[in-house]
Order: sequence, then structure tokens, then C-alpha cells
Amino acid sequence: MLKVTLGILLCFLLFRLAAFAYTEEDVDYYERLLKTSFKKSQTYQLHRSATKYRALRNSPPKVFGDYDFVVIGAGSTGAVIARSLSDVPDWKVLVIEAGEWGNNLTSVTSSAYKITVMSDYNWGYYSIPQNNTCLGFEGNRCPHPRGRGVGGSSLLNALIYIRGNRKDFDIWCRDGNPGWCYKDILPIYLRQENYRHTDPESPFEPAYHNYSGPLWVEQPMPRHFHHKIFLKANEEMGYKIRDVNGIEQIGAMPFQVNTKKGTRQDSGTAFLKPVAQRKNLKVMTDSLATKILFDGKRATGVLFLNKGILYKVNVKKEVVVSAGAINSPQLLLLSGIGPKKHLEEHNIEVIEDLPVGESFSDHLQVHGLVFSSNVSEPIKTLRESIKDFLGTGTGDLAEAVPTQAVGYYKTKLAKIDDYPDLEISFQDTNETADALTKYYNWKSNISYYTAGINAASSFQLFATPLHTKSLGYVRLRSSNPLEYPDIDPNILSDPEGHDFDLVYEGIQFVLNLTNQEAFKKINTKFEQKPLPQCSKFTFMTKDYWKCASKFIVNHNNHPVSTCKMGPDRKKHVVDHTLKVHGIKNVRVADASVIPLSTSAHINAICYMIGGKGGDMIKRTWKKKLSSG
Ligand SMILES: Cc1cc2nc3c(=O)[nH]c(=O)nc-3n(C[C@H](O)[C@H](O)[C@H](O)COP(=O)(O)OP(=O)(O)OC[C@H]3O[C@@H](n4cnc5c(N)ncnc54)[C@H](O)[C@@H]3O)c2cc1C
Ligand SMILES: *[C@@H]1O[C@H](CO)[C@@H](O)[C@H](O)[C@H]1NC(C)=O
Ligand SMILES: *[C@@H]1O[C@H](CO)[C@@H](O)[C@H](O)[C@H]1NC(C)=O
Ligand SMILES: *[C@@H]1O[C@H](CO)[C@@H](O)[C@H](O)[C@H]1NC(C)=O
Ligand SMILES: *[C@@H]1O[C@H](CO)[C@@H](O)[C@H](O)[C@H]1NC(C)=O
Ligand SMILES: *[C@@H]1O[C@H](CO)[C@@H](O)[C@H](O)[C@H]1NC(C)=O
Ligand SMILES: *[C@@H]1O[C@H](CO)[C@@H](O)[C@H](O)[C@H]1NC(C)=O
Ligand SMILES: *[C@@H]1O[C@H](CO)[C@@H](O)[C@H](O)[C@H]1NC(C)=O
Repeated sequence: MLKVTLGILLCFLLFRLAAFAYTEEDVDYYERLLKTSFKKSQTYQLHRSATKYRALRNSPPKVFGDYDFVVIGAGSTGAVIARSLSDVPDWKVLVIEAGEWGNNLTSVTSSAYKITVMSDYNWGYYSIPQNNTCLGFEGNRCPHPRGRGVGGSSLLNALIYIRGNRKDFDIWCRDGNPGWCYKDILPIYLRQENYRHTDPESPFEPAYHNYSGPLWVEQPMPRHFHHKIFLKANEEMGYKIRDVNGIEQIGAMPFQVNTKKGTRQDSGTAFLKPVAQRKNLKVMTDSLATKILFDGKRATGVLFLNKGILYKVNVKKEVVVSAGAINSPQLLLLSGIGPKKHLEEHNIEVIEDLPVGESFSDHLQVHGLVFSSNVSEPIKTLRESIKDFLGTGTGDLAEAVPTQAVGYYKTKLAKIDDYPDLEISFQDTNETADALTKYYNWKSNISYYTAGINAASSFQLFATPLHTKSLGYVRLRSSNPLEYPDIDPNILSDPEGHDFDLVYEGIQFVLNLTNQEAFKKINTKFEQKPLPQCSKFTFMTKDYWKCASKFIVNHNNHPVSTCKMGPDRKKHVVDHTLKVHGIKNVRVADASVIPLSTSAHINAICYMIGGKGGDMIKRTWKKKLSSG
């Protein structure tokens, strides 16, 4: 009897240790915060330009002072670089960031897609109207959410942490970027990571993890019922269940995400906030960089707007542009670095003729592959979810989206062994049907046909073609820095039709996977209704999907390559040290330098680029300290 009582007491104590203390007032606070913020987000008007930063007087710039380094953008990459540079106490580092620091709302992991995306934390970009794709969106404009704030797009992303395939990096290396092979960059991933094996059932390769870096990595818990089915069906098809960041990538795997006890670890929270008090580091928020100033090929300063005043900061060593795959090319173009003809059309003095803004590329995502089963997930009230979130760091508020697992596959179109060209991710419940809906702006007569049923027993599989070949661009709409740039993602446009063929393979794969025993046992049904826009074609045929993909395929929020890294200045903007070709002291460090569409999501890659960028700058200036 005594033993049992002691056992119960011990279990209780252990549980209390694992759980975090919170009060009823905390629950009240978060309930109010989430409810009022959600309400506000529903009527929020997205910005269509950056005029909120405009100068209130037409006077010459005020001198802001001298800094060794100016980092433009404190997003996924910029926050890491700024931390790294400020390791050196005698370097003065200024960070210019257009948005604000994150807050209690953004730290609730699930706020991103539901609330933050419809707030000032999103730039609010949409593409120029498309003619053949993105026809499912109002105005035929593909949505391009981009985070604005310390943390950048990691303030509103799904926090999925995947480093990419070793071959991604070995190909970068092979193509003229020494120092970027997998063996070179793995140590950077490792020193950044603080891994917690929160899901004991998920495979785990210790050699690929570290437990003392600044970036938390956890597995979302508890596992959803339908995710277990997804993993089982993969096994039935002969795929292994793996560690998503282990040695091999083909197979299915539970996701690892950047949360700390369930709270969002955007790059601001993980990397910059812990060092924000350093005396040699200044972070200017609510500040828009508008131009890099040059003396010949050397950058001498940066112009930026803050609260209606135009400032000029003098740069003694280097400018690091980390404004993201859309804003970095825009800022370079505004500063005279870009295609000569395009700059001349906008009467911008040409400093260096380079293919800035070209080669825009992204993964794709097929929407509307919605299914139902005869098993319902339990639904919790908001208060119950808040208690899970505050108490144990679990549950739906601790997840960006109800996605916990993914698979990577090599289709018959792939040419390289052990190098997947297709991702299938799995999302639970009908929430998926409207994830980002408000921002995405689906036409109602598309979402009706693809949304499936409103029930906790529904789920969606996203087919995500990787290594896409279609190329788009980012160009200036105007030489006015307050105007948003033109974005043309130009998806599904490659002349050989590779990208559509991959979409089709992806859809077939999803249909095969959901036809396995594990899914059959729960009476899985495909819920998409034939699109009237494609009624000329027999439902589910290749021709039908070709038509439907004009409406239901979007890019996957992973734009890259607009300031591509590589040795050839006709094709590439920066060299393997991230220095802009032909320019003495400007580097670009963010997703825009990624040379090719990768095998995985790209946020972790941005963190790695930040760490590596910091190392290279320190090497240039012969300093040997490291943390970021
Ligand atoms: C909805 C969504 C979901 C995603 N989900 C995932 C995911 O789960 N996993 C994953 O790996 N990837 C994901 N991604 C992609 C990933 O988050 C981004 O690729 C990554 O954050 C890009 O980092 P970056 O450093 O290139 O740019 P960003 O993080 O976008 O940072 C750029 C920063 O520069 C600032 N800035 C821009 N212009 C200026 C200027 N002129 N002056 C001053 N500041 C400026 C911006 O405000 C921003 O803070 C997602 C992206 C989105 C949008
Ligand atoms: C953030 O939340 C905590 C409770 O978790 C509260 O103490 C604090 O005041 C909140 N901050 C703001 C700015 O509201
Ligand atoms: C769409 O077609 C129109 C008319 O041909 C053309 O002017 C426009 O540039 C095209 N848009 C895109 C994004 O290609
Ligand atoms: C783990 O991270 C710490 C902190 O960044 C670092 O010092 C250490 O070298 C890392 N360990 C490995 C194996 O990379
Ligand atoms: C399904 O989604 C709708 C719309 O978002 C929501 O109102 C409803 O509560 C959801 N139902 C279930 C069972 O999750
Ligand atoms: C789907 O299954 C069919 C029938 O077994 C097979 O012919 C086809 O190759 C599979 N396709 C994919 C993409 O897995
Ligand atoms: C779900 O469907 C399967 C297959 O049709 C059936 O065997 C099972 O009893 C059903 N379960 C429930 C809870 O209805
Ligand atoms: C769908 O709605 C758009 C307007 O948003 C309209 O142009 C189009 O004809 C409609 N299509 C169908 C098939 O109803």
C-alpha cells in the first residue's frame, strides 16, 4: 500500500517537474489575447506599399553615426549574422529592421497562420497577376507572405526544422562554391542546435544532434491519430521511418520543429534576443533601408527611414544584406546593382551589372488533396488548449499547423540516387482546408470544391514537388523604395513540362499512399469535388489534373535564388563568400543566395547561411570568435 502511494506521489512529482507553472490569470490573459487578436486579424487591411515609412520632410539625411557593420534585415538569416558579428566586442554592429520585435502573441506557436499573417508582421506581398497559374486566387495573384519583424519570416512560418539533403550542399560545392559541402556545413547546424527528444517513439540518430546550441528543436506532441496512420501507410509501401535530420532522407519521418516548450523560436527569440544587451550591438526596428551608398565599388553607408526621418549611417567595414529573397534583390536594384537595362529603364545609376532578381524559384504545393476517415480527433476548447500550451508546451497552440509528419520520395523523374524530388506532408483536421485562407484569398468557387468536409475526421496531404525548374523574377515596379517590387513566380512554366509532371507524380503518390491498408481500415475517402472550371476533362485523369493545377497549385513559400551564389557573374550575384561580384564590401546572406531549389524546407538552411556568413566575415577581418 505504502509502495503504491509513494509511487503515485513520485509520478505526481515528476509530472509537476515536467509541467510548467501557470495561474488562472495567465489563462485568462491568453484567452483574451488570442480572441481579440484573432478578431482584429479578420478585418486587418494588408499594406500594399511601404508608404508608412515615408519621410515627413524633404531634408538631407541625418547622420546616424559610424558602424563597422550594418546588417539589413533581422530575419531568419540576419538575426544569426548579427549575433555572430557582435561576438567581437570591438566591432560596432547596427541592424536595420523594418518590423518590430515579436511579442506574447507571436510566441504562441499557432498564431502564425491564424493571426500573425494578417497583421503588420507580414509585408503582405502578392504576385503580379498570372495568366496560366494561381487562377484559384482572387485577381490570379499568388500570395507571398513574408515576415516583417525581428525574426523575419520565422515569425510566421510553420517552424519545420529540416537541414536538407547532403547532396544539396555537395552540388553547391561542385558548382563552384567551395566550403559549402555537407561536411563543411554540418558542424554549423550542430553548434546551433539544442535538441530535445520530446517524442520517444520517433527515430533518432544521436550523431546528428546537439543539446547546447541556441536553437531549440522539439517534436510536436502529442501525436495525432491520423499521423500514426500516415507513418504506417508509408511502412506498408516499403518506406522506412527515419530521423528527418539523420543520415538518409528517403522515407517518412516525424517533424522536428523550432519550439521551446511549445513556444515559437523565431530567429529573433532564439538568436538575437539573448545577446540584445551587448553594448556593441544596436537593433533599429521600424526602420526601412532604402539605399546602399557607394564610392566607386565600395559601400560607404546606408540610407534608412525611421519614424518619418531619413538617416544615413556610415559603414566602416561591410554591409550585409539579409532582407530576404524578395527584398534583398529589391534593395540591390534600388542601389544600382542589377541588370543594366532594367536599372536604366528606372533611371538608376548602374554600379554593377548583375542578374539580380532573376532565377526566382520555389517549391510547389498542391492544395485540395483532402480526405476524410471515420475517426474523429478530439476537439478541445480554447481554454483547454491554453492550459496544455502553458502547462506542458503541447497541443494545438504549440503547433504552427497540425502537421507532424512528412515523407520524402524519389519519383521516376529523379535522376540522382538517394536524392528525393517529392515531399508529401500530412495535415490533420479540417483546419488545413482554411490554413492561411484569409491571406491566401482563394476564390470561393475554388475553395468550395477543394475544401472537403468540415469535420475533425478530415485531413489533407500536400504534395510538394522539389527541385523545380520553372524560373520567375523579382523586379522593380518603380525606383521609389516605398513601392513594393513586382514578383512573378511563373510556376509550372518550364518548357519541358517537368514541373507539371512532378505535380502529377505527387498526386498519384498521394492517391496510392491513402489507398494502403492503414488508411483503408479507417474508411478513407477522397473529398475533392471535380472543379467546374475543368469539366471538359474526365475527373482524376492526367488532363484533368493539368487543368486543375492551374487553380490548386501554388508555390510553397520557399522562394530562393534571386541573388544566386556561384562563380559566374553572368548567372550569379554573389561568390562563395557571399560577396557581391565586383563590389568590395557588400555581402548578401539569406534565402536569395541559395543556388538551386533544395530537397527540403529552407529555414534551417538560412540559419546555417547566417552562421557560415558570420564565420567568413570574421575570417576576412581575422577574428576568431564564434557563437551564431
Ligand atoms: C507561411 C510560411 C511558412 C513557412 N514554413 C516554413 C517551415 O515550416 N520551415 C522552413 O524551413 N521554412 C519555412 N518557410 C520558409 C522560411 O521561413 C523562409 O524561407 C526564411 O524565413 C527566409 O529567411 P530570410 O533570412 O531569407 O528572410 P526573412 O526571414 O524573410 O527576413 C528578412 C528580413 O528583412 C527585413 N527587411 C526586408 N527589407 C528590409 C528593408 N528594406 N529594410 C529593413 N529591413 C528589411 C524583413 O522585415 C525581414 O525581417 C515558410 C515561409 C512562410 C512565409
Ligand atoms: C506577456 O505575458 C505574460 C504572462 O505570460 C505577462 O506577464 C506579460 O505582462 C505579457 N506581456 C505583455 C506585453 O502583455
Ligand atoms: C499575361 O498576358 C498579358 C497579355 O498577353 C501580358 O501582357 C502579361 O505580361 C502576361 N503576364 C505574365 C505574368 O506573364
Ligand atoms: C554543440 O553546441 C555547442 C554550443 O554551440 C558547441 O560549443 C559544441 O561544439 C556543439 N557540439 C557539437 C558536437 O557540434
Ligand atoms: C471545421 O472548420 C470550420 C471552419 O473553420 C470550423 O468552424 C469548425 O469548427 C471546424 N470543425 C471541426 C469539427 O473541427
Ligand atoms: C501508384 O500505383 C500504381 C498502381 O500500383 C503504380 O502503377 C504507379 O506507379 C504508382 N504511382 C506512384 C507515383 O507511386
Ligand atoms: C471505419 O471503417 C472501417 C472500414 O470500413 C470499419 O471496419 C470500421 O468499423 C469503421 N469504424 C468506425 C468507428 O466506424
Ligand atoms: C468563379 O468565380 C470567378 C470570379 O471570382 C468567375 O470569373 C468564374 O467564372 C467562376 N467560375 C465558375 C466555374 O463558377
